[in-house]
Formats: sequence, C-alpha cells, structure tokens
Amino acid sequence: MSDFSNRVNEISISGIREVFEAAGEDAINLGLGQPDFAAPEHAQEAAASAITAGKADGYTQNSGMESLREAIVDKYAQDQNLSITPENTIATAGGSEALHIFFQAHVNPGDEVLVPDPGFVSYAALTKLAGGTPVPVPLRDDLTLSPQAVESAISPDTVAFVLNSPGNPTGAVSSRADIEDFAAIAESHDLVCLSDEVYEYTVFDGSFHSPTEFTELENVVVINSTSKLFSMTGWRLGWVLASTDRIEKMLRVHQYAQACAAAPSQYAAEAALRGSRDIVNEMTTTFQTRRDIVVSRLREIGMEVPTPKGAFYCMPVVPDGFVDACIDRGVIVVPGEAFGAEGAGSARISYATDTGQLTTALDIMADAYEAVT
Ligand SMILES: Cc1ncc(COP(=O)(O)O)c(C=O)c1O
Repeated sequence: MSDFSNRVNEISISGIREVFEAAGEDAINLGLGQPDFAAPEHAQEAAASAITAGKADGYTQNSGMESLREAIVDKYAQDQNLSITPENTIATAGGSEALHIFFQAHVNPGDEVLVPDPGFVSYAALTKLAGGTPVPVPLRDDLTLSPQAVESAISPDTVAFVLNSPGNPTGAVSSRADIEDFAAIAESHDLVCLSDEVYEYTVFDGSFHSPTEFTELENVVVINSTSKLFSMTGWRLGWVLASTDRIEKMLRVHQYAQACAAAPSQYAAEAALRGSRDIVNEMTTTFQTRRDIVVSRLREIGMEVPTPKGAFYCMPVVPDGFVDACIDRGVIVVPGEAFGAEGAGSARISYATDTGQLTTALDIMADAYEAVT
C-alpha cells in the first residue's frame, strides 16, 4: 500500500466524533453543534422553485451567483455598515470550505497561525493540512481571547491569528474594545485576522462586533455561513469576505476543490439573507432562555461556569470522570480537550436541544457529578 501524505498523517478525526460513537443510540445528545430549528420557509421555497424551474441544474459562476453575492453585500451594508462589492466574496460549501480555502491560500510550510485554545477544531487541523504550525493561545478566565495574549504570541513566522466571537466551544463574546484591539494588531503587525463570525446573530448580552468595522478589509478575512445564522447546516452554504486580491487567490483553491457551491443552496441562502429575520430573533430568544436554565442549574449542581454571552454552548469546569459518567448515563457532552490542551478539565455542553430534554439531561448530569465527586 502506498504511503499517505505527511499532511494527512498530521491530523485525526475530531474528538467529538469519538464521543458520539461511545454513546448509546437513544442518548440525549448535548454534543451537537447545530440549531434545532427548521430552515426559514422562504429559503426552502426559493430552493424548491429554482429546482422545479430548472434554474439550479448547472454550475454557477465559481464565486457564486451574482444575485447571492449582492445579497451578501447588502447584509454587510445593513449589519456592519460596510461598503463591499460582489468581488469581495465567494460563496462556499459552508463555513468549513471557507476556512479551508483561507488556510490553503495564506499558509506556507513553517508559517505559524495563532489559534484560540480551547477553540473550534478546524483551525489547528486546517493549519496543519496547509503545512503550517498552529500556535495555541490560552483564553482568559471568562473564556474570551485576549488581544495582549495574541500580541505576545506573535513571532516572525506568524502569518495570521484566528478570532471567533461568539465562540465555539465557549459561547464567549469579545467586547468592542477587544475587537478594536484585534483590528489594530492585524494592522500594526501586518498579519491577517481570520474572523470566524458564524455565530454572529446569536448574541444575548452586549452586541456583536467585527474587526472589519475598525480596519481596512486588507487586514481581515471574514468567514460566515447560513448554518448557524439561519439554522441551515445541511444546506452547506457559507462565504468568505476579503479584499479582492485575497479573493482572487482563494478562488483558485475553491475552483479546483469545489467548482462552485451547490446551486439550490445558493438560491436558499439568497432568500434567507433577503428575507425576514423573525426566525433569527426567535432562535436567539430561545437559546437565551435555555442558556439561563443550563447555567443556573450547573451552578446549583456545584460547577463553575463562565456565563456564555452568545452561540449555544457553555463550558463548565468539570470534575475528573464527569464526561464518562454522563455518557454512561445516556447524556453526551464533549470533553474540553477535544478543543485543545487548555480545554482539559472542562466540557462543552450544547443547548441546541429542546427544554424538556435539556431538563432531563441536567438531572442526569447532577447524578453524574455526584457519582464522581
Ligand atoms: C466556529 C465555527 N466555525 C465554522 C463552522 C463551520 O460551519 P459550517 O461549515 O456548517 O458553515 C462551525 C461549525 O460548527 C463552527 O462552530
């Protein structure tokens, strides 16, 4: 058998998958990273009518349909007061592909990328797949990324740093002041700030800010996606937003890896972006209610848990053996170390599950906690 590439040997299947496999079939799954809502009806209908009209059978432009990219432009004008053009964006197969083309287009062997630790699993893996070295940056006690910690981790080999607010696995939301500092760091050190904004619309306390509000687009690459904004994970439709020279380079990777994002999903995304945001508001309110239930119960049980201000995750400090005790009792939570060495000693709990199941799961967690303490 032929050998495999060093790049692929450097990475492994995410630790989240291992937990799912260890659990029984009817376990309550608090490990899932997807909203438990239907996609907006207007998005579903737009895809269905494009399909029946025969408009979705062929390739689109590599970078995506002009009308979708116009909708993305309008979203940034509306939400961030940003003036961009369709040439600043590529529609991708989810935020995941957007991340992939970013790393492939920006990272050389030997380059370093600063990644939050704990942080979303893809950043380190995709850095390695590009031949680079991920450099973990530990978070503050409140689980936000500190601009000072990022700045002091910068070396002559650093090419980029990753910001993810609201964050996975933490639910932490960076302050406006920190986002301004991240923009200034990218500018003064001539680095790219990769801003993963896929949870942009799920903020409970304070408000969302993007580094694009505080510096030239040259210093920032944004990735976003319909997955968490509109509860459309299965549609696999995201985008990257960047200066035109970066877009031209990322398009080279996208063209050979993907050709174009799936046409039906592009129609759905355009409708989601242009349509009513009622479902977005409903999801945010629901997640906030659940956040309050989960955090107060975990504290009652005895766990220390920073209050998540966004997304739909929280990360309590847990005693040794807690994750396994939960899994044995039929509740899946993800061990913090799946998200980086600094995650050890905590667990990620997703509350993208209805309140009834959540309440049952919290009772089981209380029992698991008692059994291991
Ligand atoms: C922080 C973060 N970024 C990006 C993604 C990728 O999402 P998708 O490829 O579904 O757009 C996820 C998915 O869980 C995520 O949590």
